[in-house]
Amino acid sequence: MSRSFDLLGAGLVASLALLTTTACSPGDSDALAAATGGGGSGSSSSSATGGAGGSIPHGDPFDVPIDGVVPAQQKDFFDGDALFDLPLRDADGLGPLYPRASCGACHNNGVRGPGTVTKMAVVLADGFTTSPDQTLLPFGNTVHPQLADGAVTPIEPPADPSVKVTLRIGPPILGRGYLEAVDDSEILRVEAEQAERTDEIHGRANHVVYQSEPNPDQTFNKHQKGDQVIGRFGLKARIATLDEFTADALQGDMGITSPLRPTEFKNPDGLLDDGKPGVDVTADSVNSRSNYVRLTAIPHRLDLDEQGAALFDKALCSVCHAPSLKTRADYPVALLAGLDAPIYTDLLLHDLGDTLADGVVDGTATSREWRTAPLIGLRFNKSFLHDGRAHTVEEAILGHAGDGSQATGSLAIYAALSADDRATLLAFVGAL
Ligand code: HEC
Ligand code: HEC
Repeated sequence: MSRSFDLLGAGLVASLALLTTTACSPGDSDALAAATGGGGSGSSSSSATGGAGGSIPHGDPFDVPIDGVVPAQQKDFFDGDALFDLPLRDADGLGPLYPRASCGACHNNGVRGPGTVTKMAVVLADGFTTSPDQTLLPFGNTVHPQLADGAVTPIEPPADPSVKVTLRIGPPILGRGYLEAVDDSEILRVEAEQAERTDEIHGRANHVVYQSEPNPDQTFNKHQKGDQVIGRFGLKARIATLDEFTADALQGDMGITSPLRPTEFKNPDGLLDDGKPGVDVTADSVNSRSNYVRLTAIPHRLDLDEQGAALFDKALCSVCHAPSLKTRADYPVALLAGLDAPIYTDLLLHDLGDTLADGVVDGTATSREWRTAPLIGLRFNKSFLHDGRAHTVEEAILGHAGDGSQATGSLAIYAALSADDRATLLAFVGAL
């Protein structure tokens, strides 16, 4: 923790005092969690709950606000970060079932993991094509192993050989405000450009439906339930905006309902509520967590070598991992508006072949399709690809090689590079 007291303000002193007095009594710390978790964007900067900010030994900071934020935005960032890291309890409305109790459990310091979500899908005999019959999974694709107040039956994969069980590691959330700021028309422009290509690289936008109640705070969008939108968040780009993603994560990953998602997900015990009657957190509490994600910086890139960038182009990596996309001129965070956002993704879905396929359908994305992973803060990843199966950048590249992958031609160019050029390319990617 390197925060200075003046950034956090009086709220920190108050929360620390509260933590000290409640540390020996689990009952009272439930109350603290209830107060801060349910209370929205008040002065709940309890840094002691989770470690906002991080740095690697040579002082390269990440999980920090974008350069140039004004004091009010800095406060939003730290308040949201504290809520993001705060483990919620039964009294906060956790559950009835849930995978983890805080956002930070799966996005520690904004980088990948350690928490994971287990997915399941009924697939055909080939082992990866989604079956039209998903009746073996009446409670959906997500495993919910943990029980809170009143629940007795977790959602676990049924022991049936047609059920494919896969892992998604919580991806980094750094720099996701830049992704939200990209104009829809820019995504469609890149999609149209790729449609003209004579090779196999043809990404497509995931046209999805906004599935939440409208956000009472319409600063970032005015979507109504049922609106058609272009997905960009999630490993298959299933959600369009950070507020909807946060409400979805609260509901799906923690069993926390909010005004955007007021109902508990369907569960085997048929429970309609949990340890906290009614809607669990306020819209402010959702928006505070979203604002933290929105305001996180893209970590400074240390050494963007020109030769490496040229090889990244030559091997066609840059077609999918577009080095930058244009953001909207009217995006409400002025620091992110009207610029070339260096996100290294086209925000499009690509068929990456059978070996990465997970059987899961997200919006219009199929078993084999994934959104191009944004190459942001890559040097902080301890593993790569959606389930962390790759342990080096090179293993991640080779992982694009499944049968039918749109990256087949790109990988052939990579394989034909000299050993020196491959090393230069890997160093370039590793420095993103
Ligand atoms: C149990 C682990 C877990 C928890 C808890 C969790 N997440 Fe996630 N998060 C994931 C996984 C896995 C994904 C990828 C989901 C997908 O593909 O749809 C994800 C994706 C995201 C993304 C999209 C990132 C991108 O690149 O598109 C955001 C933003 C996010 N989470 C925010 C949150 C917030 C805010 C919370 C707390 C309210 C939270 N998450 C809680 C595991 C988790
Ligand atoms: C056809 C589009 C496409 C091409 C071409 C492509 N990629 Fe990817 N890349 C993706 C997608 C989609 C993913 C996400 C796969 C997953 O998570 O399972 C990905 C994931 C990655 C990852 C892992 C990122 C992470 O956060 O885990 C790295 C590293 C990467 N690509 C580097 C490259 C390099 C280097 C090249 C060129 C040699 C390349 N890619 C070519 C689409 C592409």
